[in-house]
Amino acid sequence: MRPPSPMQQTPGSDLLQIRGLDLDFGTPRGRVHALRNVSLGVPAGEVVGIVGESGSGKSTLAYTVMGLLAENAEVTGGEILFEGRDLLRMPAAARRGLLGNRLSMIFQDPMTALNPVRTIEGQMIDAQHYAPGSRREKRERAVEMLRRVGIPDPQSRIGGYPHEFSGGMRQRICIAMALLVKPALLVADEPTTALDATLEVQIVNLLKELQKEIGCSILFVSHHLGTVAELCDRVAVMYAGEVVEYGTVRNIFQNPGHPYTRALLECDPGRIRQKTKLLPTIPGEVPSLIGARHGCIFRQRCRHAFARCASERPAEHAIGAAQAARCHLLDQARVMPA
Ligand SMILES: Nc1ncnc2c1ncn2[C@@H]1O[C@H](COP(=O)(O)OP(=O)(O)OP(=O)(O)O)[C@@H](O)[C@H]1O
Ligand SMILES: [Mg+2]
Repeated sequence: MRPPSPMQQTPGSDLLQIRGLDLDFGTPRGRVHALRNVSLGVPAGEVVGIVGESGSGKSTLAYTVMGLLAENAEVTGGEILFEGRDLLRMPAAARRGLLGNRLSMIFQDPMTALNPVRTIEGQMIDAQHYAPGSRREKRERAVEMLRRVGIPDPQSRIGGYPHEFSGGMRQRICIAMALLVKPALLVADEPTTALDATLEVQIVNLLKELQKEIGCSILFVSHHLGTVAELCDRVAVMYAGEVVEYGTVRNIFQNPGHPYTRALLECDPGRIRQKTKLLPTIPGEVPSLIGARHGCIFRQRCRHAFARCASERPAEHAIGAAQAARCHLLDQARVMPA
């Protein structure tokens, strides 16, 4: 029997397990295959990063886990097991019951999550809808959490409206709100991308501390590799709707197995040591997500591509116990004598 795949099974207990997920968007131009056969695991108490270029399907994956998809989205295959139950086949009421309770989310733009015409106090009390306690106790908990995320004078500021806070503070409030309920899983879609670099470091450090305190898992979407290296335990690399590589942060950053992962790392400004006027980019463009797909999704931009890459979709090849990549170059059978 084949050993369990590192993309689908991580050591210990996986809190979230996505298996073979396929998702299309219906559009007038045809069906956009935004996710194809996506598998990855998020172990309990760990932070898993999702990286990849714009349009690779990172947000779509995050929103699918949360059940917050656009109306033209259709899941055509796979399962999302959360605490052992398939979120895709759960009655709608049971799934809603998980949101803001076992599962919470932080968005890129804090104003997406905050209601501009309500006070922070009202919104933070409502966020504790499922928690026990009186309104006063919930207010106290909210004040404590605001203090914890670094909002000065939270007793009086909790009465303010979102527009009375700066962008960085609003994101801190969103983190406070998302973690107030002590979720098992926090899904964060580029929560620091809109912030300047100093604020980004502060927010990432805060998330790290709170994640350890609460013991929750985080699915962290980012295209900033430095942030991912700082915060995450494991990383899934996405390209054109597929997870092409999965591994621990150390695996991915020190021993990347997929040519796309290597190209991403080579283009990361944070890792370029030589003085240069032009930052390197990956030549070529992300392929269209419409229509049938043959062979390897990355082959048009891959400098190692050979005939097999055009005809056969690469299987997932394990590189050690906790890392796997979809690339024919990793196929041991290819180099074995006939
Ligand atoms: N509602 C929709 N209808 C049609 N296509 C969509 C819809 N939402 C997303 N897409 C397409 O699905 C693909 C994946 O989009 P997604 O937003 O998940 O990418 P992303 O990796 O989050 O990119 P970014 O880094 O820019 O946020 C893209 O080609 C996008 O155009
Ligand atoms: Mg996105």
